[in-house]
Amino acid sequence: MNRREFLKGSVAMAGAAAAVPCVAQTAPAPAAPTSAEGGDPSVPLLASAPMLQNPAPTSMGVAFAVSAMANGFVEYSTSPDLKDAVTVKCGGFRVTDMNDKVMLVRLTGLKPATKYYYRIGADRISYKGGYKMKNLGPERDPRIYSFTTAGEGAEAHFCVCNDTHVKWASFGLVVDKIAELKPTLAVWNGDACNTQETIESQIEIFLNPQVSRKDYAAEIPFCLAPGNHDQRGLANRHLERVFMFRQPEERSARDWDLGRNFAFRLGDIAMIGLDTGEDKPDRRDVFAGLFSNEPYRVAQTQWLKEALERPDIQKAPFIVAFCHIPLFDDRPWANPGGICDNGGGKYKHDFALWEKSCAEMWGPLLKQHHVQLLIAAHEHEYRYDAPTAERPWAQIVGGGPLLNEKLNRFQTVIDGRVEGGELKVAVHDVHHNRIVGSFTYKSRV
Ligand SMILES: [Fe+2]
Repeated sequence: MNRREFLKGSVAMAGAAAAVPCVAQTAPAPAAPTSAEGGDPSVPLLASAPMLQNPAPTSMGVAFAVSAMANGFVEYSTSPDLKDAVTVKCGGFRVTDMNDKVMLVRLTGLKPATKYYYRIGADRISYKGGYKMKNLGPERDPRIYSFTTAGEGAEAHFCVCNDTHVKWASFGLVVDKIAELKPTLAVWNGDACNTQETIESQIEIFLNPQVSRKDYAAEIPFCLAPGNHDQRGLANRHLERVFMFRQPEERSARDWDLGRNFAFRLGDIAMIGLDTGEDKPDRRDVFAGLFSNEPYRVAQTQWLKEALERPDIQKAPFIVAFCHIPLFDDRPWANPGGICDNGGGKYKHDFALWEKSCAEMWGPLLKQHHVQLLIAAHEHEYRYDAPTAERPWAQIVGGGPLLNEKLNRFQTVIDGRVEGGELKVAVHDVHHNRIVGSFTYKSRV
């Protein structure tokens, strides 16, 4: 068949099709509006309570989930009625971070040790192309929340949780205990995650947990000192889409990629956050060459040295450091400083292949600068390592998330506060609602 005949035949077939008498057909159900069209207007756009992230003396992050394409914002003020509120949109300069999952809003230029009130909202956006965008109007969470920035004048009171591992029963007890203790801020000391392959699962962990206290972080901001599990899975390679990196002004340009480290004053306490990263070497076959934790830890060493030399940190009466993997362990097979690679006993230790462990790199700096306490996690078993002459900093290892009384395993919330010129730390076992350890530290200055 030549082309002309084919075209003639096609026309004839089209005519034949047109000649078929109409029969009654059920009209297809109209397709549900997609997120690009602004989503289903009957579904609230705001899909979670706000989560305060990365508290600092002059900044605060606010994250929340949305159900459709949205452009989120935060309205904040020092006045409880939001008088003269400032509105900050999601994202940074140039274009906003319009998307259909998570709104990340950074409040900057704040005053230290100051109480702010805020409300979240988002514009519903119909996006059908670069020139086919429509703002369908704002939806606001009617609740007004508050937070207090960190700084030397802030109340020196923190709480720590760790190894929550998406175990909702434990996590529910954790957030209830933190709400009861009412700290200025909390530190999530790693392993919030298991292995997360989707952003939806991260949203569930941080923004929409399956607990009754869904606004657990709406007034108590969380710092994140990540654990090894917080790096695992495709989605966790970009955890910053749900738990944003800290503000760049907190560090030098050289350290631009150290977005999880923190060093700031919370009243009389200097809070130091470190990221021990994966607990296995970058060269492990299962990692396929896709991790760079070894240079990451080296870079943090220089950062830590300079952070500890800062005048505001130096003059702090108390310095408390936080990292997921313990920097000290009297059992050599148990993760001494983030370099364990025994594969559950299958592999021999091969420390010689590592330049230096976290313990070797960071431990002496903690000693040199008279850090009183390191709070770690990772082993799912509460433990206290009293200071020694050689290692003058104490170490508390928090427990979680499953209960195993034979192994001294329970979920902890560690409470630290300055009272009467001393740092008082209480370790709460939230499974049994009891205090299992109380420690007091004297001023270092
Ligand atoms: Fe863990």
